[in-house]
Amino acid sequence: MKKLPIGVFDSGLGGLTALSELHKLLPDEDIIYFGDNARIPYGTKSPEIIKKFALQDTRFLLSEGVKAILVACGTVSSNCLDEVKALAGVPVVGVIDGAARVAAEIASNKHGRVAVLGTSATIKSGAFEQALRAQGVREIINRACPMFVPLVENWHPDVDDAATNAIVAEYLSSVGEKSPDAVILGCTHYPLLASVIGRHLPDSELISSGACAAHELKRLLEERGLLNTEGGSISYYTSGGEKMFSENASRFLDELSVDSVTRIDIENY
Ligand code: DGL
Repeated sequence: MKKLPIGVFDSGLGGLTALSELHKLLPDEDIIYFGDNARIPYGTKSPEIIKKFALQDTRFLLSEGVKAILVACGTVSSNCLDEVKALAGVPVVGVIDGAARVAAEIASNKHGRVAVLGTSATIKSGAFEQALRAQGVREIINRACPMFVPLVENWHPDVDDAATNAIVAEYLSSVGEKSPDAVILGCTHYPLLASVIGRHLPDSELISSGACAAHELKRLLEERGLLNTEGGSISYYTSGGEKMFSENASRFLDELSVDSVTRIDIENY
């Protein structure tokens, strides 16, 4: 069991921000990554469609024999994590709880104010808000940022790029007025915009929900005695174009490079 791979999935490339942290924390684990690039974005879709896609993604990873799953997608984690867990039958970690804990800790030493940035479906679900309230956070500012995912998937957002700054300012000026202590990047694509977001929210600490989830998964595998010490390979799968995936993936991965990508037909799962 220990030697089986960990499965990680997202609607596209954003989950690579979680994978990259997971590989840093657990370099001897084999990891299988699936990006549903053919059907991105999830964040503008209905909860029923998000659930259908999430269960197909989960079935694909299970068919590869994974020992645990990191749901590296804020939209899936906030809309149907329980359904993914029920199907999987192996340990499953989403991106909500770890980030909420870290944000609550920061806010408890300051003004008790946390902002959540996410896709429309994530913010609509209220899942981060619920987790933050359970952690005792008093003031929560929710902001859906639907343009961020297409921006990050299709563009190379530079910190000085005028169009990127205009879009980020449009979404975040009302958030900045409230000076949150911590801002949860509740979508795993958003860390690629961190330097621009940071410029517009200079008084807030930014939290990558995907990185927090990687830490949660490490803890869980340790607790259950499931850590591998003999692996370290990473396999990439996408429902979209292999070339697009490998060309763009490096922007999401700190030190890793993508040597090969396999395309699958996710409708078969
Ligand atoms: N990375 C996904 C998330 O964390 C992107 C959402 C989308 O596909 O719209 O929510």
